[in-house]
Amino acid sequence: MREVVLAAPGDFAEWRSAARGLLANGVAPEDVSWCDSAAGASLFGEAAAPARAGAVALPRELLEIAERVICHRDPEVPARLYRIIWRAARDRLLLARATDADVDWLRKADKAIRRDVHKMHAFVRFRRLGEEAGRERFAAWFEPAHRIVRLTAPFFQRRFTGMDWVIVTPDARAIWHGETLVYGPGGTRDEVPASDVVEDQWRTYYGAIFNPARVKVDAMRAEMPKKYWKNLPEAQDIAPLLAGAEARVERMREAAVSMANPLTDKWRTRVPDELALDDNVTTLDGLAKAIDRCTRCPLYCNATQGVAGEGPEAARIMLVGEQPGDQEDLQGRPFVGPAGQVLDEALEEAGLDRTRLFLTNAVKHFKFEPRGKRRLHQNPTTGEIDICRWWLDKERALVKPDLIVTLGASALRGVTGKSASIKSMRGAAHELEGGTKLIATIHPSFLLRMPDRARAAEEREAFVADLIRARKLAA
Ligand code: URA
Repeated sequence: MREVVLAAPGDFAEWRSAARGLLANGVAPEDVSWCDSAAGASLFGEAAAPARAGAVALPRELLEIAERVICHRDPEVPARLYRIIWRAARDRLLLARATDADVDWLRKADKAIRRDVHKMHAFVRFRRLGEEAGRERFAAWFEPAHRIVRLTAPFFQRRFTGMDWVIVTPDARAIWHGETLVYGPGGTRDEVPASDVVEDQWRTYYGAIFNPARVKVDAMRAEMPKKYWKNLPEAQDIAPLLAGAEARVERMREAAVSMANPLTDKWRTRVPDELALDDNVTTLDGLAKAIDRCTRCPLYCNATQGVAGEGPEAARIMLVGEQPGDQEDLQGRPFVGPAGQVLDEALEEAGLDRTRLFLTNAVKHFKFEPRGKRRLHQNPTTGEIDICRWWLDKERALVKPDLIVTLGASALRGVTGKSASIKSMRGAAHELEGGTKLIATIHPSFLLRMPDRARAAEEREAFVADLIRARKLAA
């Protein structure tokens, strides 16, 4: 029996190196016993042999999952993962066998880790420690369910690059001083101040985004479980906000303001503009002006303005949405409303910088149905999408992206000219005529419309995973 003692439980590099050695030496899973140094190694048994030349090739997806699942607290994880890679080395299709007990266990463990990562991203709250050498210093205490510090720290590095911070958990800590992420031993809650001045900002923010007309207490509990409340400054406001919700809704009703677009009336008098068919645009600015004058289909009649794409001409990735929404129509910029907020957060999580992308839509005018004082979004028809491809093609010709990410079915139709389902295209990279790569994913507003919070969280993770795939593909 080989005995492998893991000095740092949850450390993928250590486990992978031991597992590779065993695999290359043909050691069967039943001949290995795995334990961590804290559990105390036995005095007997042979140590794991170093890897021989000719390491065994494994599916990349499996290694990516293993890197997450090794963080699971279940002490059986190193052994189970080894059994799975042992089997995968002999059965290339193992991961596709959804009813296999090992694969089922792996997927569930992975889901638990991804959920834990999502919660840590959302619920870490930094407390200000002071200033040193001109840089602000912050610290946060967090108790994740699993050993996920290394999985989550890069997210905080991207998000809070400009400040120095440490995140302390019971298992390990991540430290950022502006250059490299460093990891250290776990700590205790009393290392981090319980409150600070930033706390008021969190509370104000939470109070501002709390929508009394949409209170769903069960969904709130599922999304923000009580065990995290003790570290969340805004948690103390939940009860008073809930108690005052009804009265606030009443006040909102009384104070209801017109949401109608004052410019909507112009559609009765507006006439087609001959210049709109101008074919000679050679710059993005010129294109934006031409799009605003477009009369190629009747959608221009009711919209405030045509909304062109936005971003650098040198962008390597183009994101295509459906059509401008209410806010986009008023502001004349794509993805600045609620769907844009969801998109911005997902982009950030995926490590994509919005300012380096070209964001546009399949259809350039807002299509809506007036309902009282409001304008309700309507899906564009296939005909409208096909007519508007005129502009999308011009944007594509000027930007010449290496990769296009389509958000939703209308965008997919706009880019490909075909009515394929997202499901049939998702999860793989495709190639368009001319060599541009294509990744098809959902529209961010789909996440806003999902009533089931748990499913929405899963869908959101899959959406972020698609964006990460896009980043890697374009790199
Ligand atoms: N939805 C889209 O598809 N595009 C936008 O610009 C805004 C919302």
